[in-house]
Amino acid sequence: MEFIKIIVENYIATITINRPEALNAMNKVVVAELKKAMEECVKNDDVGVIVITGAGEKAFVAGADIKSMQKMSGREALEFSREGQEMTMVIENSPKPVIGAINGFALGGGCEIALACDMRIASENAKFSQPEVALGIIPGWGGTQRLPRLIGKGRAIEMIIGGEMIDAEEALRIGLVSHIVPQPELLEKVYTLAKSILKNGPAAVGAALECIHQGFDKHLENGLDIELNAFAELFETDEQREGTTAFVEKRKPNFRK
Ligand code: CAA
Repeated sequence: MEFIKIIVENYIATITINRPEALNAMNKVVVAELKKAMEECVKNDDVGVIVITGAGEKAFVAGADIKSMQKMSGREALEFSREGQEMTMVIENSPKPVIGAINGFALGGGCEIALACDMRIASENAKFSQPEVALGIIPGWGGTQRLPRLIGKGRAIEMIIGGEMIDAEEALRIGLVSHIVPQPELLEKVYTLAKSILKNGPAAVGAALECIHQGFDKHLENGLDIELNAFAELFETDEQREGTTAFVEKRKPNFRK
């Protein structure tokens, strides 16, 4: 792949969006490559947690590539938006947890990729915004839908129609990220979180994520049904037997043979 690097180590896949000369802005090729990278990591048995970050110290992703959008027709824009949304759905639907390591500007499509991740950890220099309206367009990779769900409708409306850029502290305050660390410590912090998740049953982690994502917008009773079935299904797995037996035998479970 031209713009994406994947490194797999100790069950952690680090996907780096690597187009630093354009602050990792994403044209159609980068979008397709990120989707493919995610699909490969989801399929790879040596991967338990996926980390998405940007190359360099300045940007996570500065958005969709504005130069490539300048002359798009409505029809081409529909396709570009659909491809971007599909890429974010592969991230959101991943049964393996995805952590966004937000190492700088996360603007427009960059903020939307961060929103599709299960968790977001930011470096102190990270900045977030949905600045599309300043370009005479709107977020096209899920921002109008995921941002209100994550931070609340009022604050999301302010960000989306105001286009303001917020710093890491404000992102932490409104729940857009869960931790801030100095930039040199960003990946270390993310890997510590990844390692703590990797100790747990992979099927259980995947099932928990699925329940949360599938149930989020549903009526409580429907969400509880999703949980009920997933809970029961885990009792048909070796993982449940290993986890509960290990507790009874006073030893650590061995989920990854
Ligand atoms: N698209 C294309 N190129 C971009 C880019 C983008 N989104 N963001 C930065 N670049 C390019 C710049 O054009 C520049 O390239 P050249 O040297 O060839 O001119 C290079 O990256 C470095 O950028 P700057 O010189 O602008 O760096 P700066 O430090 O002065 O400013 C910045 C940094 C504030 C992030 C500024 O680059 C910026 O505002 N970028 C655009 C951010 C934006 O509007 N993103 C939303 C895009 S729309 C979208 O994402 C739609 C969607 O929902 C899918």
